[in-house]
Amino acid sequence: MNYTTILTALDNGIFTITINRPDKLNALNAEVFNDLDKVIDEVGGNNDIKTVIITGAGPKAFVAGADITEFNGLSKDEAMALAKRGQDVFFKIENSKKPIVAAVNGFALGGGCELAMACHFRLCSENAKFGQPEVNLGLIPGYGGTQRLTQLIGKGKSMELQMTANMLGAAEALQLGLVNYVTSPETLLEKTKELLTLIQSKAPIAVGKIIECVNVAVVSDSAYTNGKSGYDKEIESFGDCFVTEDMKEGTTAFLEKRKAAFKGK
Ligand code: COA
Repeated sequence: MNYTTILTALDNGIFTITINRPDKLNALNAEVFNDLDKVIDEVGGNNDIKTVIITGAGPKAFVAGADITEFNGLSKDEAMALAKRGQDVFFKIENSKKPIVAAVNGFALGGGCELAMACHFRLCSENAKFGQPEVNLGLIPGYGGTQRLTQLIGKGKSMELQMTANMLGAAEALQLGLVNYVTSPETLLEKTKELLTLIQSKAPIAVGKIIECVNVAVVSDSAYTNGKSGYDKEIESFGDCFVTEDMKEGTTAFLEKRKAAFKGK
């Protein structure tokens, strides 16, 4: 298959997907989402692929977020469609019957943290940094982050991280259960492959059923939102942010490389 923004390699059943925009810290633009969408279909349809690694190109970033340049001028409806698109692709990853593991090799911010959290579990290198800094842009996470971060690290810490935009280092991510292992940058892929080789020796149908059942265990409670899921609520709230002055100020300030001045409007 031909992809423009990702690299793929198959080695002993382990399929490595590398997000490949290192000059933009692997930020997720529409093309990356198209490629991820297609490559997960390839994973499902290719019997030679047994397990999958998602990682980022270059030494600095896994993925530094959604591509902020694409936020410019979006209407509320367009913003909601963007969030829906991101959520759909990430659901596809989360619901893959074949294990998909994130090897986080640097910044995993915003959509990058959300991508890692959509994977079945995560390893990271010592230089990894996790965070949901959307509030700096006058925004909230839109690709499932409000839900999955809460599922993974609990309500209080999830609230704090999203409200402060603070980043977590590798040791804290390990302590909170956001990642399962921390390695040196040089041994990250090796350790990930070691675990996947072990998983590949187990019964594949049973492994697929574990994914299905664990995913059911963490489905969000819809009691707060009139029957809508937390993910639907996130799309709506993400859209609401796009009609605020603060969102325009936040994204413009990032692109102009200055600090945002928010007014609460
Ligand atoms: N969207 C678009 N471009 C991005 C990006 C994003 N999310 N994150 C980084 N980039 C671009 C930068 O604009 C820069 O491009 P340029 O060289 O053309 O100016 C390039 O990637 C390198 O990033 P830079 O900011 O210069 O690196 P840094 O080491 O100084 O800072 C970060 C690294 C990760 C702290 C910083 O890039 C950052 O804060 N990124 C945005 C994180 C974010 O808010 N993500 C959530 C988005 S919803």
